[in-house]
Amino acid sequence: MCGIIGYIGIKQATPLLLQGLRRLEYRGYDSAGIAVLGQHGISIERAVGRIDNLIDKIGGHTIEGTMGIAHTRWATHGGVTEFNAHPHRGCGEDIILVHNGIIENYRELRKEFSEKHTFVSQTDSEILAHLIESHYDGNLRHSVAQALQHVHGTYGLVVMHRDHPDTLICARMGSPLVIGMADGEYYVASDPTPLLTHTKDVTFLDDGEIAELTREGINIYTLRETRIHKDIQHIDWDDEQAQKQGYPHFMLKEIFDQPTVYKDALRGRIIEDEGTAYLGGLNLTPEEIRNVNRIVFVACGTAYHTGMIGKYIFERLMEIPCEVDVASEFRYRDCVLDEHTLVFVISQSGETADTLAAVREAKRKGAIVRGIVNVVGSTIARETEGGTYIHAGPELAVASTKAYTNMIAVLLLAALEFSRMKKMNVAAGQRMIHALYEIPEKMKKMLEQSEHIKTLAEKHKEYRDFLFLGRGVNYPVALEGSLKLKEISYIHSEGYPAGEMKHGVNALLDPAFPVFAIMTKNSLYEKMRSNIEEVRARGGKIILLATEGDEDARDFSEDIIFAPPTMELLEPLLNTLPLQLFAYHMAVALGRDVDRPRNLAKSVTVE
Ligand code: F6R
Repeated sequence: MCGIIGYIGIKQATPLLLQGLRRLEYRGYDSAGIAVLGQHGISIERAVGRIDNLIDKIGGHTIEGTMGIAHTRWATHGGVTEFNAHPHRGCGEDIILVHNGIIENYRELRKEFSEKHTFVSQTDSEILAHLIESHYDGNLRHSVAQALQHVHGTYGLVVMHRDHPDTLICARMGSPLVIGMADGEYYVASDPTPLLTHTKDVTFLDDGEIAELTREGINIYTLRETRIHKDIQHIDWDDEQAQKQGYPHFMLKEIFDQPTVYKDALRGRIIEDEGTAYLGGLNLTPEEIRNVNRIVFVACGTAYHTGMIGKYIFERLMEIPCEVDVASEFRYRDCVLDEHTLVFVISQSGETADTLAAVREAKRKGAIVRGIVNVVGSTIARETEGGTYIHAGPELAVASTKAYTNMIAVLLLAALEFSRMKKMNVAAGQRMIHALYEIPEKMKKMLEQSEHIKTLAEKHKEYRDFLFLGRGVNYPVALEGSLKLKEISYIHSEGYPAGEMKHGVNALLDPAFPVFAIMTKNSLYEKMRSNIEEVRARGGKIILLATEGDEDARDFSEDIIFAPPTMELLEPLLNTLPLQLFAYHMAVALGRDVDRPRNLAKSVTVE
C-alpha cells in the first residue's frame, strides 16, 4: 500500500528510482512522483496515474543527482490529483519527503499549523513535512525524531533536505521499510523486490526506529535517538523471479510458476523414511505440539481461504478443534485464547495491518503464535516467535496465486508433522508424501488446459454474475475462485457451500447466472452431484470441474475442465488452478488491468 524507494550513492538516482518504482507499482498506482537532489538543487516531478505517466512527464530531460526519493501512491486521504501525489514539501521547499501509512492526528496538527504554514495538498502526509520544518535545527535526523514525537498513526517515511546532500533519513512506525546495502550505495524501500537487482543484503527497520543513510554507511537509532545495532540479513530471492519472463502479465507467470515454487515449499522439509515432515522454523518441541488442544487460523483475503483449508486439513489429520477468523474481526473480538491454543497467522506480505494486529493480540493473550509468511524478514515473520516461510518467491500481481498454493503446501506439511506425533502411522505418512510429490506433474496437466479455459472465459464474458460452488475442502476453493474473478475482472460473483443452496440462494438461479461447480471425486462427490442436479433442474448454466475419467460428469455440462485425481486434502492444490486461469482469461477478455486491478493494492499496510 504505497511504494517508497530512496537511493543515496554514486550513480545517477533517477533511473534507479524509476526502475524501483516500476517494481513497486503493485503497491499502489494512483499517482507517482520523484525528487532528486543534484548540484543545481532539488528537482521534483509528479504525475497522476501510472509510473509511465511520470516517465512521460520527465521526458528526455535528465533529473540529475545521486540522491533521491520516489513514491507510488494508493490514495487514502485526499483524491487522486497531482497536488496529492508525493513527494511532499514544507513551505520553505527545503524538506521533501515520501510517506506510507496514515497520520491519524493530521487534522489537529493541520489546524495548529494553519496560521503559519500553507498546505497545498489534502493529504495527511503533507503535515509531516511542515512538522519537520518547524523542528528543523540544522540536524536533520534530530529534527525528524523530534517531529515524530507529535505524530499518532503509522508511517514508513523517507526525508531529504536541500542543505543535506549526503543524508537520507528514514523512519518506521507500522509501515515497512527495508534498507539495502551495496558498495558505497544505500537503498531504502517498502519491500525488498526493488532492491534485488542491486543487493540482497538488507536490514529491516522496526517500529520506532530512525535510520540515517549516508554514502559512508548507515546508522540506526531509536526515536529517542539512542544508537542501536541491527543484523544484516541475506535475501535469497532471485531477481529473475521478479521479472515477467515473456508472460504478458505477472499473474499468468505466477500461475505458471506454481509447479516450480510448490517444490520449493517442500524442499528439505520431508523425511520420507519416517513418513513425516519437519518445519524447523516453527520452533515447537514434540511436547509443545502434543499440548496444543486447539488451532486458530487468522488471515485476510486469499490467505484467509488457505486458513479455511487449514481447518479441514488439521481437523482431519490431527483430530483437533480448529477455527478460522478474518484478522480484521479477530483483532477486535473477545477471542478466548490460552497457552494451549496455537494461532497460525498466514500472510504473503507479512505486513498486512490487520493480520499484524492479530499477532499482537494473540501474543498478549498468551497463545502460541506462529507465522506462515512469504516475505523473508517481514514484520509478521519477525514478530512471531517462530514460523515457516512458504518460499513462493516474489509475488507481484495484486491477485495472489502462487503464495496461496504454497501456504496450503506448508499447512499440509505442518499437519503431517504434527499428526505423525499424535496418531498417524508411518505408512499413512508415506502415502501422503507420495501424493504431495505427485502434485507438480498434476499441476502441469491443469495448466495445459489454459487455452481451453480461455475459450470458456470468452464464451462466458458477457455474464455479469457468477456463482462458485464447492463442498468440504473445495468450499474454500470456491470462495477463492469467486474472489479471483471479482478482484480482477470486476464481475460480481459469490462462493457458496453447495449444500447451502436450498436455504436461500437457489432463488437466484436462472440462465443468466452461471454456476462454476467443483465436483471432483472425493468423499462428498455424491452429495455435490445431487446439489448440481438441483441447479440443473432449475435451469442453471453450469461450468464443471470434474475428475479425469468421470464420464458421467458430461451429462451436466459441455463446459468441463478435468483434474487429475489426488488425495482429498490435496485437491485445493490442483482445483484452484483452473479457477485462477478462468479469472485471468476473463479479465483479459474484458480488457481489465490484470496485474493492477482498480481500487486495490498488494500489501495492505493500513487498517
Ligand atoms: C487476493 C489477495 C488479497 C490478500 C490479502 C492478504 O488475491 O491477494 O486478498 O490475500 O490482502 O494479504 P497478505 O497475504 O499479504 O496478508
